[in-house]
Amino acid sequence: MLLLSNPCRVRRFYENAMQPERLKSSVPISKAIRLSSRTYTNSSMNLESTGTTGSAASVWDREASCYDAARQADPVYRSCIHLVVREIPKGTALCLDAGCGTGLSTLALSARCGTIVAVDYSLGSLQILKSKGLRNVMAVQADLRALPFKESVFGGCVCANTLQHFTPDGSQHRAIAELERVTRQNGVISVSVHHYSKSKRKDGWVKEGKPGQAGIDYIFRFTHDDLLTLLPGSPIRGVGYYKLLTIPFFGARLQNVLATLLGRIAALTGHGHMLIAVLSRRRPRAQKGSAVRR
Ligand SMILES: C[S@@+](CC[C@H](N)C(=O)[O-])C[C@H]1O[C@@H](n2cnc3c(N)ncnc32)[C@H](O)[C@@H]1O
Repeated sequence: MLLLSNPCRVRRFYENAMQPERLKSSVPISKAIRLSSRTYTNSSMNLESTGTTGSAASVWDREASCYDAARQADPVYRSCIHLVVREIPKGTALCLDAGCGTGLSTLALSARCGTIVAVDYSLGSLQILKSKGLRNVMAVQADLRALPFKESVFGGCVCANTLQHFTPDGSQHRAIAELERVTRQNGVISVSVHHYSKSKRKDGWVKEGKPGQAGIDYIFRFTHDDLLTLLPGSPIRGVGYYKLLTIPFFGARLQNVLATLLGRIAALTGHGHMLIAVLSRRRPRAQKGSAVRR
């Protein structure tokens, strides 16, 4: 903890954590997630100067200390985290939490998976995550558009409530391409994003720009088709129904039940506060008549 109290030393701590040797000695799975030389040079980058992805890391540094309290008290948010994490098969040995923030999604994953590598570019958020003392979690500071990992190492990948802070001009696609690159064949990529739902349109919420939420600089709210373009062929569900919270006892659990039963229809009809898409990295089928390659 002493180490974390000095921002300069904190930065070094995380940079060190990104060095292959350091990973090797600290965790047994390190061999599998050895940093690739292609992206390793990024570990010394100034994250603010690599060009905007939409939202700036400093914004999330400032948000970090108050982030958890607001979300933990919100049944819709808790339901979304539960549902997006639930897509990762129980017992997955090595999982990536891409855009882990302060670790709300990481905490849910830690009960489900052997080891979680939690990545975010906000050092302030990673400090909060580290303070939670999750034993099977390794925190890495990196940009999701250039992940410092080798190909096909993670059995599963969660990217919860993060992609809406990337611009649609290539950043979203680059991040998804990176998630696909580092996820194994037959692995699952589970993504949740903010939905540009019918009720948000009616209430005058912007599709793209300043979200209207204090402190957050940029949001891109997804339609069903936006998300399908990013993750072709993925089933999409609309989850989180704020209007139903006015019904007594309609908490996170009933939100989960409803999203499970009706989420697909909700997404198609423009309902649900968030959208969840699940991409299975299926092994490409051998073409009929073609020789089997070994
Ligand atoms: C709304 S928070 C979500 C955090 C967590 N997954 C959750 O659901 O509570 C979005 C997170 O995305 C991170 N983020 C945004 N752009 C990023 C980028 N280019 N690379 C890495 N992390 C990024 C932010 O730092 C922030 O922690």
